[in-house]
Amino acid sequence: KKRLSIAIDGPAAAGKSTVAKIVAEKLSYVYIDTGAMYRALTYKAIVNQLELNEEVALLDTLLSTDIKLLPSNKGQLVYLDNKDVTNEIRTSEVTNNVSIVSIHPKVRREMVRRQQAFATEGGVVMDGRDIGTHVLPEAEVKVFLLASVEERAERRYTENLQKGFPSDLEKLKEEIARRDKIDSERDVAPLKKADDAIEIDTTSLTIPEVVEKIMALVHERI
Ligand code: C5P
Repeated sequence: KKRLSIAIDGPAAAGKSTVAKIVAEKLSYVYIDTGAMYRALTYKAIVNQLELNEEVALLDTLLSTDIKLLPSNKGQLVYLDNKDVTNEIRTSEVTNNVSIVSIHPKVRREMVRRQQAFATEGGVVMDGRDIGTHVLPEAEVKVFLLASVEERAERRYTENLQKGFPSDLEKLKEEIARRDKIDSERDVAPLKKADDAIEIDTTSLTIPEVVEKIMALVHERI
């Protein structure tokens, strides 16, 4: 059987990683969360008190930074310079600064180089913002997941409460909208549906329903 490359893009909190993980598991493919790579660099930049507008300083840091995405039975683990930062990269401080770090073309170029290196053999499910447009333009399956800001904020809110994290729905809505705006308006590789991506509006769909739709696309091409 052919080992495909599957690109899953979309705005913040659209459920990309949840469905990408399940699809990867069903196919025994590797799941690559590219947002985690931008988050890991952002976390390191904050810890090292770097100026997030300084492209060259961020690139220099990235070039000497090791980021590993490792599968585990608890989900994907993220290692930054051999330290587990899986939880640290999900704080609101990282979330609210990552889009600024991700604007810089030199940072993106190095990230894309690393992401493409993960995918040379196929058999990957990669999620992000520019996978179908820039990272894997030849991907056999391209999906663009959509949902209203209200729906995405409510899902994140419920998820936070389940994890026992404090959460504010209105604030979540603002943060998600702000992140989408920065990600969509940047000059290099903005958040955008690839021309040949299939759009799936998940607003009224369950997770298994979204997975089902993606698996149908996969089976058409495998
Ligand atoms: O997917 P996640 O929400 O974890 O991504 C965090 C941030 O990383 C995004 O808001 C965006 O600024 C950046 N990102 C990106 N390109 C990608 C993946 C993520 O610019 N391919």
